[in-house]
Amino acid sequence: MQERDLREEISNIKNEAIAQIMSAKDVSELENIKIAYLGRKGKLNLLIKELKNIPGDERKHTGILINEAKNTLIEQIVNKKNAFKESARKWFDPTIPGHKPIVGHLHLITQAIREISKIFEDMGFVRVRYPEVEWDWYAFGALNFPENHPARDDWETFFVDALPSPKYGPMILTPHTSSGQVREMLMVKNSPIRMINIAKCYRRQSDVSHVPMFHQFEGMVIDKGISMVHLKGTLDYFARNFFGSERKTRLRPSHFQFTEPSFEIDISCNVCKGKARLPNGQGCRLCKEGWLELGGAGMIHPTVLINGDIDPNNYTGFAFGWGVERTYMMKSGLEIPDIRLIYSSDLRILRQF
Ligand code: DAH
Repeated sequence: MQERDLREEISNIKNEAIAQIMSAKDVSELENIKIAYLGRKGKLNLLIKELKNIPGDERKHTGILINEAKNTLIEQIVNKKNAFKESARKWFDPTIPGHKPIVGHLHLITQAIREISKIFEDMGFVRVRYPEVEWDWYAFGALNFPENHPARDDWETFFVDALPSPKYGPMILTPHTSSGQVREMLMVKNSPIRMINIAKCYRRQSDVSHVPMFHQFEGMVIDKGISMVHLKGTLDYFARNFFGSERKTRLRPSHFQFTEPSFEIDISCNVCKGKARLPNGQGCRLCKEGWLELGGAGMIHPTVLINGDIDPNNYTGFAFGWGVERTYMMKSGLEIPDIRLIYSSDLRILRQF
């Protein structure tokens, strides 16, 4: 009979302890429960002293029950402690404002390229891209550059360490987007062309106003009866849409190997409004003579058309090629002390755009 009472007592003590563990409010309460039930003078250890009054087999069995009860309580206490830790970690206060994820944005030159591209696409130009690693022929030869032109020197252009092609000459990193002109002519074959080629270009230059890798956008239109009037109209449309409705362009005679006639394109200065003088009578510090230089343009040279398999007696065309970085800096009025900062990956600079 004795052992039956003990069994019941063990189970009662165990249940009582579990109830207390469940409703414990903190770790120190748990510690007290542990002492009260599992401590040296705790309730379960006191029962162990009773074991000697129980006959053989039953004693062993009762001992096992006490040990099981101890293990159960230890496990419950550990679980409860862990639950306290968890809830301290996971405690959620819905009134605290959330953390905004850091969302990046496009690099300023990518933004400029998209904007430029959109303006020409609205005029029906097709955006294309041609190789950055290019043959000398497309970059120079086909564009009427003489063999000894300084741009073909390895102080000007990056040469790739590859076997020269018997037909196209050495391999280079393209120094301008004009190398896409003849490629586009050969690709499209005589039908009207309205291309806008925006790509990376490479030159051996690195100083406050030059980077060895930069971007150009090259426009080219070829059709029957294309004249300088179309060139001027296209450039004016671009200037009004990119720089502002009051801006004008002007063509200034110049020289390029692949255009005849050739021009530098200027845009009216937005500081002095093309007057070269400020209202207070002082000279404009941004421009000379009221105009800022944008880039080159011209009517495509007949030899270049022939190299592109286009009959210059039937077709004429114009082309222009400008630097994206320079054009964007003119628009934003960005006075950056060193153009290389644009590619320095310094977020303090890039986040401003
Ligand atoms: N490729 C010339 C350069 O990088 C720019 C240029 C001038 C492009 C006249 C043209 C053009 O298409 O007609 O300096």
